[in-house]
Amino acid sequence: MQATIALLPGDGIGPEVVAEGVEVLKAVAERYGHSFSFSEGLIGGCAIDAHGTALPEATVEICQAADAVLLGAVGGPKWDDPKAKVRPEQGLLGIRKTLGLYANLRPVAVTPALASRSPLRPDLVEGVDMLVVRELTGGIYFGEKTSFYIRPDEEQAVDTCVYTTSEIERVVRRACELARGRRGKVTSVDKANVLETSRLWRRVASRVVAEEFPDIQLEHILVDACAMHLLRRPADFDVIVTENMFGDILTDEASMLAGSLGLLPSASLGKGKAGLYEPIHGSAPDIAGKGVANPLATILSVALLLRYSLGLNAEAEAVEKAVYATIDAGILTGDLAPAGQARSTKEVGAAVLERLG
Ligand code: NAI
Ligand code: MG
Repeated sequence: MQATIALLPGDGIGPEVVAEGVEVLKAVAERYGHSFSFSEGLIGGCAIDAHGTALPEATVEICQAADAVLLGAVGGPKWDDPKAKVRPEQGLLGIRKTLGLYANLRPVAVTPALASRSPLRPDLVEGVDMLVVRELTGGIYFGEKTSFYIRPDEEQAVDTCVYTTSEIERVVRRACELARGRRGKVTSVDKANVLETSRLWRRVASRVVAEEFPDIQLEHILVDACAMHLLRRPADFDVIVTENMFGDILTDEASMLAGSLGLLPSASLGKGKAGLYEPIHGSAPDIAGKGVANPLATILSVALLLRYSLGLNAEAEAVEKAVYATIDAGILTGDLAPAGQARSTKEVGAAVLERLG
């Protein structure tokens, strides 16, 4: 197949890890007879330096014309002035909004080699294979915000949590479709004992599953209980679907099951096929430019890109297998390797390519 992939390497280690992702895409194209073309844009701090904005119009156009977007990371101390009007993360929020990306997917899989390095007991995390689907464009993060003085000595701040039926339906549908390709189980997480938006969420989720996905096993759990069960019985989860803020918190918790930020990919999907794929970690300024960053989260993001935007499932699985084989072979960057045995970003990238049979 032919596809155009927009590359937004961004700041810090972003360019180093995206370079390894591109090598994997080129290898997949060659081995499976596809033709991928790449177009590169600036986002985040580097875009601010060049154009005075974190999301230049040219970058938006490159993304809109592409079949998928691969992003590194944005930000760093150089642009960290909290009072600055132009900030790197505006690039990220802006591109998600422009592309209408309402579902954020974060898979967490723990192989035996990773289980032995998890902060949790290996027997608890071994076999974990879950996919968290977080609603990305609604809820309290996007509701109306105000703060004002109700008395000269008393300030009040208000955040508003808003969800509509259709916003809930589309993300629950997405989660159910994804579950069909997995173990067929969806856990919907809310706080329906307290929040009105959660009561709506639960009603809508129940109806969508009953009407459209009778083959899916749906369970509802409260977010506080979910936080506990993620540590107590993480291997029981298949697909978790939840609203924006709960998802933000639970995905960080779930990410630690696998042990390192440097391993976890994400996909953000919308109406169209063109999704945005990025590692969940940031620009890691402390290690940027040294060639030691873990490229596996980005390479696993490439696998998600192949699967969800290009529909290339066999290719996606081959990339994932090559990554896990690299981990099992102990070819690891410093975030995971025992002292003195760390390999460079490029060495780990090359080890994945070698195993991409
Ligand atoms: P971070 O994820 O960049 O780094 C946290 C720690 O993990 C650091 O010690 C870093 O060296 C390590 N780390 C991260 N990715 C790694 C990798 N691939 N391989 C090995 N080690 C890795 O988060 P931090 O330090 O809070 O933020 C740094 C900058 O990144 C800030 O400017 C922040 O705003 C930005 N950021 C950007 C994100 C994005 O672009 N999506 C997400 C999170 C933070
Ligand atoms: Mg977060």
